[in-house]
Parts: sequence; structure tokens; C-alpha cells
Amino acid sequence: DDATCDERIRAAKAALGSRCAILGHHYQRDEVFAHADYTGDSLKLSKLAANSDAEYIVFCGVHFMAEVADILSRPDQQVILPDMAAGCSMADMANLRNVERAWRELSEVLEPDEQVTPVTYINSAADLKAFCGRHGGIVCTSSNARGVLDWSFSRREKVLFFPDQHLGRNTGHDMGIPLDEMVVWDFSKPMGGLTADEIRGARIILWKGFCSVHQMFHPNHIHKFREEHPEGRVISHPENAFEVCQASDVVGSTETILRHVRASEPGTHWLVGTELNLVNRLHHEMADKGVKVQFMSPVVCMCSTMFRTDPQHLAWVLDNLVEGEVVNRIQVPADEAREAKATLDLMLEITA
Ligand code: 13P
Ligand code: SF4
Repeated sequence: DDATCDERIRAAKAALGSRCAILGHHYQRDEVFAHADYTGDSLKLSKLAANSDAEYIVFCGVHFMAEVADILSRPDQQVILPDMAAGCSMADMANLRNVERAWRELSEVLEPDEQVTPVTYINSAADLKAFCGRHGGIVCTSSNARGVLDWSFSRREKVLFFPDQHLGRNTGHDMGIPLDEMVVWDFSKPMGGLTADEIRGARIILWKGFCSVHQMFHPNHIHKFREEHPEGRVISHPENAFEVCQASDVVGSTETILRHVRASEPGTHWLVGTELNLVNRLHHEMADKGVKVQFMSPVVCMCSTMFRTDPQHLAWVLDNLVEGEVVNRIQVPADEAREAKATLDLMLEITA
């Protein structure tokens, strides 16, 4: 049961000491999050993994995050994902085969390697980061997308942004790019379902991917909240649809959401458009400070893959480490890791 697991986790952590670091994303459930040595958004966790001295990095998050930790850590460090089935449905919406096909199809209309910077959201497989490395591209996270796109446009006139169309569109709009200069590439159709003129006229070509959790939030949730609470404030993650972000007062990564809400005056009432575990924790934390935190959707929407990491899996991988066994290691093939590391290092350098 949970209490026994809790005990096992504590005992294993004590036995391993500084040899093991547990990283936890903000969407992790409370019973797991409580054991994290470090917590953060994707950018912060990447930096923590790059700077960690621990022999074992146990990543309580999803698969692409553990891959990034493996790529950025030293070869003598090992990264562990407690449940191998913890993926990200958005990351799965782009794969090397369909991105390479898009690149080939674009070359019928443009010179992609001269005109288009491929930008992958960190929520993507390592081979897509490596693809960006081979084609003069880069990686971004929800907290540095603006800086990454500024860098991209200083080099080439267009961007192919994958897998999340919303982060791409919201960031492009922030930079003053008109909506009609951003087109959606539907990877299920030849030429992305676009005409040659549409491609030539676009500044940003957005991959048709999205987050299944954030697509549950609607502008109507915000309008209703504002009617009932005219003084209320609304904060959303940039994976939300354009209309949701436009109707919000603040848009930012999970770490930004936490920072803003924590800095607010007593009496503030927030409507928060991101994953439920983060919002519930923040709700309890801020209740003592007189700040009200409300989840944006009337229906429960959690990230089901983040939720896969449970205390049982965490206890199991830690018990094995104590026994000297590494289970569920995430190891990116060396060539892929080298190319992907170049793009991640570039991202960290230009947005430092
Ligand atoms: P953050 O980098 O903002 O934590 O976002 C990660 C994520 O998967 C959001 O859905
Ligand atoms: Fe992926 Fe969405 Fe879950 Fe984030 S919340 S890990 S983008 S499915």
C-alpha cells in the first residue's frame, strides 16, 4: 500500500544519499512529488540534469524529459524513468518519418535548408532534436520559445515548428507575426494539405499537434469566470489554444504560473489553465495566504501519462538501485544523443 511504499522510498533515498537525485515535474501526483529532491518546468529540470553530480537521476516526469536528462548528463550518470509507459501524447504526434517527409515536400517549393529553421518543442523524441541539429535548427521549451524564435528568424526567413501548433502560434503572435502568416501543416495529407502559395507566404509552418490536456480548456470557461468574478485574474500555459491565451491575463510555463500566483496579493482569485495536479497543490498552498486558486475546467483533466508514475514504481526502481541493479534506464543512442545535445546546448546558450 501507499504507506509502505512511502517508507520504502524514504529508506532507499537515505541509503543512496547523494548518489541519487530525484527530479519531479510539476504535473506529478502529490505522493510522488513529495519525494522529489528538485522540481521544475522542462527548462529548469533540463538545467538541473545537466548540472547534477548524482550517479543516478530518477526522473519523475515523462519519457522525453528523461531522454533530455540522459543527453545532458555525463556518460557515467544513469537516467531512470520509473514507468517506461510514461510518454507524452503530444510528443507522439510528430515522428522522424513524417517530419523528414515534410522537409522533403517543402523542398518542392522552397530551399528548406536555407529558408526554414526547424524548431522542435522539447516535448518531442530525441531523434527529432537530432533532426534539428542536422538542419541548422534548435529546441525550445514553453519558457524560452520567444527567444528561440527570435534567434531562428535572425538566421532564416521561416520556421517549421513542431509538434505543438499552439505554442508556435501563441509565440508567433506575441512577436507580432500576423495569424495569416502562420499555416498549419497537416501531416496526414500530402504537402501538409497546403498549396505552394500558402507555403511561400507563411512565416511559421505549424505542425498539427496539440496537448490533449490543455485542449480541454475553452474561452467560455474564462468568460464565465470573469462574469462571476470581475476582479479575478486568469493565467494559462502556452499549450492552450490561441483564444484561451488571448483571453488570459498571463501566459507562461508551469514554473511561471507558480511564480506569478505565489507573488500575488492576499485576496487575489486566480483561474488557472494547466494540469490538475499542479493546480490542486497550488490551491492548498495559497489557501493559507488568502489567495484563491481555481482550476479552469469544470471537468477533471489530468495528464494520464504523468500520472503513470506512482509510488509503487518509484519504490521499485529505488529498491533496485540500493541492490545495485539499474532498471528502466533511458539511454539515447550515442549518435542521436550527440546531435540532439548540440541543439539543446545551443538553446541553453542563446537563452541563458
Ligand atoms: P513546462 O515546461 O511548462 O513545465 O511544460 C511541460 C509540459 O509538458 C506541459 O504540458
Ligand atoms: Fe504531454 Fe500534455 Fe502531458 Fe504535457 S500535459 S506531458 S504536453 S500530454
